[in-house]
Amino acid sequence: MSKLSVLNPATNAVIKELEYTSNEEITAQIDRAYEAFQEWRTVDAHERSAKLLKWAELIDAHIDEIAELITLEGGKPLAEAKGEVAYANSYVKWYAEEAKRIYGRTIPANTPDKEILVGKFPVGVVGAITPWNFPAAMITRKMAPALAAGCTIVCKPAVQTPLTTIRLVELAHEAGFPKDAISFIIASGRDAGEAFTSHEAIRKITFTGSTPVGKTLIKDAADSVKNATMELGGLAPFIIHKDADIDAAVEATIASKFRNAGQTCICANRIYVHEDIVDQYTEKLMTKVHGLKVGNGMDEGTEVGPLINQGAVDKVLDQITDAMGKGGHVSRSLDEVTELGGNFLKPVVISNAKQDMKVMNEETFGPIAPVMAYSDLDEAIKIANDTPFGLAAYFYTNDYRTGLKLYNELEYGVIGWNDGGPSAAHAPFGGFKESGYGREGGTEGIEPYLETKYLSIKK
Ligand code: SIN
Repeated sequence: MSKLSVLNPATNAVIKELEYTSNEEITAQIDRAYEAFQEWRTVDAHERSAKLLKWAELIDAHIDEIAELITLEGGKPLAEAKGEVAYANSYVKWYAEEAKRIYGRTIPANTPDKEILVGKFPVGVVGAITPWNFPAAMITRKMAPALAAGCTIVCKPAVQTPLTTIRLVELAHEAGFPKDAISFIIASGRDAGEAFTSHEAIRKITFTGSTPVGKTLIKDAADSVKNATMELGGLAPFIIHKDADIDAAVEATIASKFRNAGQTCICANRIYVHEDIVDQYTEKLMTKVHGLKVGNGMDEGTEVGPLINQGAVDKVLDQITDAMGKGGHVSRSLDEVTELGGNFLKPVVISNAKQDMKVMNEETFGPIAPVMAYSDLDEAIKIANDTPFGLAAYFYTNDYRTGLKLYNELEYGVIGWNDGGPSAAHAPFGGFKESGYGREGGTEGIEPYLETKYLSIKK
């Protein structure tokens, strides 16, 4: 059986070798998850909640160890990785509570001799496919609501970052979850996708990743009409209007744009700034961006780690070169951007950005901040919406009418108003258009793991 080498993106050294799960074993694992579902579905909500709380306790107790794994296999700076573990655990804690709030209802019947009850039931075995950019949080925000709802779950973590998942699943077993209620497989996206979409016991697919892969999964899942939640690509606009607090907007741009070295689906991808303040904003942004410490995530004080691999580096360099060719002013020379070598890139601001640049139209997943000036807010909204994506959008304004207009008109599922970090376990995360469907987090995030059944009783 072939082996998977897990690499450290900061050094390209092999951290660990793992056996791929064979296709037969993937099928067998799904079968076992189906067996486990027959038991787990009958466990009462309070016990499911208690197990999730115990899992959360163990995650808190192992925060340093899990964060280190995230940094080693994903490159994220250690302090940020610790933040991710806390964020990941907030989903476990939230759904431990939500497990106890899966309510049904009664419906008044239209004849006196009938009663109608509505109940919520777990959908069954869930197949989850998760990305490398949040190796802990994208796991728990799928696993916790699934388990809370009474489902069992088989997870395929990204091949770049399986170690965090393995540790989280071990801790879940230590917390008392039955072994096959929560499990992982080591597989390529293609093998896992084919197994999950074709196995009849899988009743739900949940995926975070690219839009092209999501489309394939949707098509394949349609054959057996499987329920799916898709959290796909983004191209977040960040609009800064003329009445904004510029310093606060700069801070929020840094927080949004450079989180995980720019490798999140909700990173500010395109920054639109009103022409009255664009020079002031860009200068302040550039000073901060050039002050960011780039390096190995294990080193104290690192703020921007490596990109995940050479392919990611090449994509970012291509966007920079394209912007240069179209009149963009890049705040560092290409030599300076790449001087650290390997998967490291020094962050840059691209001023004088134009709408036809690749960086304004392709998800970047890297540390570049393109800034384009606008004069008319309606035009900025039009450009912001002129994309197949609709995951996250941000805006800065201190005028409530402008803010409400932007909230109402931006076609995005997650919006930050004077807020560069809107993600939270208690809020519904997900996109419009080709950014996917379904929501994760909040009360909405457990719904996709539940079926509605009604009972009509003739007395
Ligand atoms: C993502 O980038 O896919 C998730 C980001 C978040 O949850 O904040």
